[in-house]
Amino acid sequence: MTMLENVKRTVRRYQTWPLSTGEKQPAIDISHQVLLYVEGLSVSFDGFKALNDLNLYINDGELRCLIGANGAGKTTLMDVITGKTHPDSGAVYFGQTIDLLGKTEAQIAQLGIGRKFQKPTVFEEQTVFANLELAMKANKGIVSTLLARLSPSELDWISEVLDTIGLKSHYQMLAGALSHGQKQWLEIGMLLIADPRLMLVDEPVAGMTAQETERTAELLTSLAGERTVVVVEHDMEFVRSIAKTVTVLHQGSVLAEGSMSDVQSDPAVIEVYLGEEQ
Ligand SMILES: Nc1ncnc2c1ncn2[C@@H]1O[C@H](COP(=O)(O)OP(=O)(O)OP(=O)(O)O)[C@@H](O)[C@H]1O
Ligand SMILES: [Mg+2]
Repeated sequence: MTMLENVKRTVRRYQTWPLSTGEKQPAIDISHQVLLYVEGLSVSFDGFKALNDLNLYINDGELRCLIGANGAGKTTLMDVITGKTHPDSGAVYFGQTIDLLGKTEAQIAQLGIGRKFQKPTVFEEQTVFANLELAMKANKGIVSTLLARLSPSELDWISEVLDTIGLKSHYQMLAGALSHGQKQWLEIGMLLIADPRLMLVDEPVAGMTAQETERTAELLTSLAGERTVVVVEHDMEFVRSIAKTVTVLHQGSVLAEGSMSDVQSDPAVIEVYLGEEQ
């Protein structure tokens, strides 16, 4: 595969709405404060129910943590929300009116839903700045613009994102030379370039040092409010440090939901999940 094909394939993951052409994301009806509705969702793989009648409601501006043992269905849920996997039954709405199940992955991204996968996928041979630039140009959807110059407002926006992710002083560094934690922040930055309304972040602190984990907690906390952030994580210390509401998944369903102390003292949760961790 040529370098260009590789870039094309990967940047598609960051393809969202065309920021630079001045198009706006569509209005999302959040008159009931709920940004994301997931109702009665079931997904089977060869008869195995990865999601089983799952219900989840995420409020606008919320920072929600999803926890659950390996195989509980957390990543599958993100796959359905982002259009990668089609469910057997159920409903997923963005705001009151937008049915996500009828949409393609690209359309869902264009609505302002960004997703960070478990493994960082930055372009190692490119600088930090170039990675953000590629993410921005991918928004335009045409790789022929890769060589086009950035407008002043695009440069400002990249600079703001660099500030947010704490990599301003590293902008000329090759992404491959960053620490694992910094690569994860860069990838979060590549999502932020598209200015998403909802961010789905899968296991952001896996493999990070304690200090990097702490900074990631600050970063995600600072993003919520203006945006809505759903974080999947196994690191309970991290979840405790950021979570207002925690949803515990077990065998594809919601086992418990509430504050960290509520779910931690829930006997069912202790038995199936937290009990194993502590
Ligand atoms: N494409 C697939 N084909 C077959 N089975 C799958 C597929 N994707 C997921 N599964 C199965 O569905 C179940 C849920 O997987 P999922 O990846 O959603 O779990 P998870 O909660 O994200 O786990 P982890 O914490 O390990 O990331 C698992 O048993 C997994 O093996
Ligand atoms: Mg997973």
